[in-house]
Amino acid sequence: MESSTFVLFGATGDLAKRKIFPALYNLFADGKLSGPLSVIGLGRRTLTNESFQAGVLDSLHAFSRRKVEDSPELQRFLKSFEYSVLDVGHPEDYRKLLGHVQRREEELGLPQNRMFYLSVGPEFFGEIAANINASGLGDTRGWKRLIIEKPFGTDLESARELNDSLNAAFTEEEIFRIDHFLGKPMVQNLEVLKYSNPVLRALWQNRYIANVQITASETVGVEERAGYYDKAGALRDMFQNHMLQLVMMMAMQLPKGSTPEDVRSKKRHVIQSVRPLLRENLAQNVIRGQYAAGEINGRPVDAYTSEPGIGPSSQNETYIAARLFIDDPLWDEVPFYIRTGKRMKEKSTRIVIEFKEPFNDLHNLNRLNLDPNLLIIDIGPEEGISLQLNTKNPRQHGQLEPVSIRHDSANPELPEAYENLIYDALLGDATFFAHWDEVELSWQWVQPIIEATAGGTLPLHLYPAGSNGPAAADELLGDAHWWLD
Ligand code: BG6
Repeated sequence: MESSTFVLFGATGDLAKRKIFPALYNLFADGKLSGPLSVIGLGRRTLTNESFQAGVLDSLHAFSRRKVEDSPELQRFLKSFEYSVLDVGHPEDYRKLLGHVQRREEELGLPQNRMFYLSVGPEFFGEIAANINASGLGDTRGWKRLIIEKPFGTDLESARELNDSLNAAFTEEEIFRIDHFLGKPMVQNLEVLKYSNPVLRALWQNRYIANVQITASETVGVEERAGYYDKAGALRDMFQNHMLQLVMMMAMQLPKGSTPEDVRSKKRHVIQSVRPLLRENLAQNVIRGQYAAGEINGRPVDAYTSEPGIGPSSQNETYIAARLFIDDPLWDEVPFYIRTGKRMKEKSTRIVIEFKEPFNDLHNLNRLNLDPNLLIIDIGPEEGISLQLNTKNPRQHGQLEPVSIRHDSANPELPEAYENLIYDALLGDATFFAHWDEVELSWQWVQPIIEATAGGTLPLHLYPAGSNGPAAADELLGDAHWWLD
């Protein structure tokens, strides 16, 4: 990997502390950051380099997956962090920043490779990109790249505006849009699982699959994010991005090559083929929910509308479930059931693939009420894969019963999503970043939900905290049911 300067906007923020500093440290400790490192943190507050470095160290102690012990190596790592005050709206601050970046490039003998990480609200993206351009920070003899975080806009139109403003300063190839679900090891494993296992490859299609269920449930509530969450809701916070990315990763056909463009074009094909929602049948395919008071792990919890910062009449959804179809020969008529919510029974992100009942009438086995074969892919917090099969139980007169074969890949040493993604961005590998086309097509697909919600035509169902969501979501599945509830 070529050395570079890592310019971090929002360096005094929460994400930097929890995810970005620990990710950089773990990459450094794993020997993945070759050559000297220059990180320039930016914020509005005045800070000396020393107090900034002390903050970085605190965050490592609190959040690094590796133990942090004092050593010359650790000191070298910390010394590579410097700080500059920057107000995003002040062009002169960017000129000062350019001087700072160039000084460090000279001191450390770094090539002019510059990574700009915008760990700030999306309302600042356009202005920052324009100032990077105008100040000369973007005129480099090496590469320049931009990392941004979701949310990418709040609807189709605002996402397009946001993208146009970024494109004024960065090309699509230079923009790395983080969707941290794409950094999760098991999500990155999905493609490999298919192409390296002929058994799965053969079955990955509508001939054998009855339905696919993708769940991301959380036990936490709105936490301290009322201001953001009450506007975003589960649709913008999780569904438009993480959940639809999981659909793409799950359903994409195997690319012929392994370049980022190969993978992204297969993903694009999936999201392009998701059958559009029609206003007239929206309520039969999309369920919005909001948590009422309830109990989680024996502890009573408040209703969403009693949370600090949330108004008593908020109609915001904390849960969303949808049934969607992919109009492609491989997936024709296979329903995908997707759901995500806060304050649910457990924290779990998983994909369950239910296989079709193969035995219709053969040997009258259907009389035995066979369980279907299930392939369960646990993405987090525990990772694992299990396959549910039917076997004879010799102790029960040869009665058929389901057994589960399970592989657990829980390993505390696994790199975290942010480590994987920052490393890939530094290498210039965009495979596991959201391409603009995917983002735009995802907004396009959810746009009718946004409009129906705004128009008050999509009901909001209450569900008790600690449950698996509103009962109405069960009806989406018709004769089937959610597995592992
Ligand atoms: C974030 C959402 O993108 O993902 C949060 O903004 C959510 O609301 C989080 O809690 C879930 O991520 P993970 O990795 O904990 O499943």
